[in-house]
Amino acid sequence: MRKVRKAVFPVAGLGTRFLPATKAIPKEMLTVVDRPVIQYVVDEARQAGIEHLIFVTGRNKGVIEDYFDIQVELVNTLSDRGKTAELSLLDDLQPTAGTASFTRQQAPLGLGHAVWCARDLVGPEPFALLLPDMIMQDSEGCLKKMVELYERTGGNVISVEQCDPAETHKYGIVGKGAEVGSGFRVDGMVEKPKAEEAPSNFFISGRYILQPEIFDILSTQEKGAGNEIQLTDGMLKLAKSQDFYAYPFTGRTFDCGSKEGFIQANVAFALWRHDIRHKVFDDLDELMRTVEPQERRTSSRTAAE
Ligand code: G1P
Repeated sequence: MRKVRKAVFPVAGLGTRFLPATKAIPKEMLTVVDRPVIQYVVDEARQAGIEHLIFVTGRNKGVIEDYFDIQVELVNTLSDRGKTAELSLLDDLQPTAGTASFTRQQAPLGLGHAVWCARDLVGPEPFALLLPDMIMQDSEGCLKKMVELYERTGGNVISVEQCDPAETHKYGIVGKGAEVGSGFRVDGMVEKPKAEEAPSNFFISGRYILQPEIFDILSTQEKGAGNEIQLTDGMLKLAKSQDFYAYPFTGRTFDCGSKEGFIQANVAFALWRHDIRHKVFDDLDELMRTVEPQERRTSSRTAAE
């Protein structure tokens, strides 16, 4: 069994749901409490034993590369001022030189295409794929539990959760086969099906362990749902020759690609933190009792006039 050493993070998305903020800041760099969304996802990968981080980026995403580099001036200033706690925080989060790689997707052709762009950096070995929109709150880590299942089953493993059956059109949906260890065998996959065409309400929630044969399939994969090259369509082809297992994640998942999910993530991670939990709890309680919705306005320009 080949160990899962590398993780791919597709971070090329435009983040249109977070305009105007994402005019200048990649959505993956938006802050949940005091760290960017991408840091939570990278932490989950490292907790699972991942040794090499591969980012598939795009135009205007250079700040992600800067974030994972050492900021020498900052380190020197903190050091001069004796800020040892801040220094050790930065040190803990810092990938060792040579363990983070970056490549560009060049054109927004879909998740399947973004994954394919990582083929040379991954090479002929199994790899993890983590969609950074989804951040997960769980002391053990979703990917770590998936690696444990993978060590038992081999093949390919994807994380799933159950959605409202009326919302299957938002996700990739898997069919449920026989139970195996902490998961079950995947029996069919379809990207964003209508409710009546969905094989179940188990949706693919953004964590994958895939075999490298997926790259050859993706190299000729045609466009599917949303006129994009879909990873789910590629996985469906791979499933003809390899086993797929689903790991039903039981912690909390926040879709930071949506405004509501992003706010929920901020609240949930603030309440998870011992240092700020009590103050945040009291403040939220007060706000929920006192804040009324803002008056409706047609546009900010009319409001200023
Ligand atoms: C992607 C995947 C989909 C998965 C979803 C999870 O869709 O294609 O299978 O369920 O992520 O967030 P996207 O959100 O990029 O449209």
